[in-house]
Amino acid sequence: MERPSIRSYSIRGSRITAAQRAAKRLLQELHGIPVENKKLDLRAIFPTAEKIIMEIGFGMGEATAIMAINSPQNAYVAVDLHPPGIGKLLSRIQEAGITNIKVIEDDVHVVLPYMIEDESLDGVHLYFPDPWPKSKHHKRRIITPAFLQLVASKLKPGGYFHLATDWSPYAQAMQLVFSTSMQFSGGVIDKSDWRPVTRFEGQGIDKDHRVTDLLYLRI
Ligand SMILES: C[S@@+](CC[C@H](N)C(=O)[O-])C[C@H]1O[C@@H](n2cnc3c(N)ncnc32)[C@H](O)[C@@H]1O
Repeated sequence: MERPSIRSYSIRGSRITAAQRAAKRLLQELHGIPVENKKLDLRAIFPTAEKIIMEIGFGMGEATAIMAINSPQNAYVAVDLHPPGIGKLLSRIQEAGITNIKVIEDDVHVVLPYMIEDESLDGVHLYFPDPWPKSKHHKRRIITPAFLQLVASKLKPGGYFHLATDWSPYAQAMQLVFSTSMQFSGGVIDKSDWRPVTRFEGQGIDKDHRVTDLLYLRI
C-alpha cells in the first residue's frame, strides 16, 4: 500500500496510558477493523444501518461515541492513527455497549483508497482537522483538491461531507478548495444539533475561536 509522503498529523502528544494500551490490545479485535489491502464489505459489517458514515480524525472519540449512541440507526467507521485516542474510543465503545462503531487505525489517505469501495459511504465527518496555521505547513492540511476527489469517489451521489474548524483562515481555505471541485456543492451552515461539541472544539472556544461548520453534498 502506497503511503502519503506528507503527514497531515502531528506525532507530538502521543503518550499512551496503560489503560489505553490495554484497551488497544484487548478490544481492537472486537471493535476494530484490521488494515488490509482489501476492500471492505461495509453492508456485511453493518447489515441494518440506515447510513454508513466515516469519521476522519476522531481524536479521543468523545463526540464519535455520543453521535453513535444518539443515532443507533446509523453506523460509524472511525479512522485515526493516534494510539491514545484509538485506545480511548475502544474503551468508550466497550463501556457503553456501543455496536455501531468500528475503528480503523491508520492514515485515511491509506484507508480510503485501499479499503473503501467507491460510492459506499453516505456521509463523511471531518471535525477540527489539524489547522497547520503557519504558511510553511499549509501543505500538511488535509483538505486539498486531491483529497476532495478521493472523498467524492467514496461517497454515494447525494452523500454529504460535513466539516468543522475553529480556525477561520482554514475555513476560508477549505471553501476555496471546495469551490474548485465539480463534485461538491454546499457551503457554511449553522452548527447542527447532532454534532456534539468535540474536545478540540471546547479548547478552541475557551480561546474565543469562532467555529465554522461546512456542509457539502456529492453531486
Ligand atoms: C486536531 S485533532 C481533532 C480531533 C477531534 N476531531 C476533535 O475535534 O476533538 C485532529 C485528529 O485528526 C487525526 N488525523 C490527522 N491526520 C489524519 C490522517 N491523515 N488520517 C487519520 N487521522 C488523522 C489526528 O491524529 C487527530 O486525532
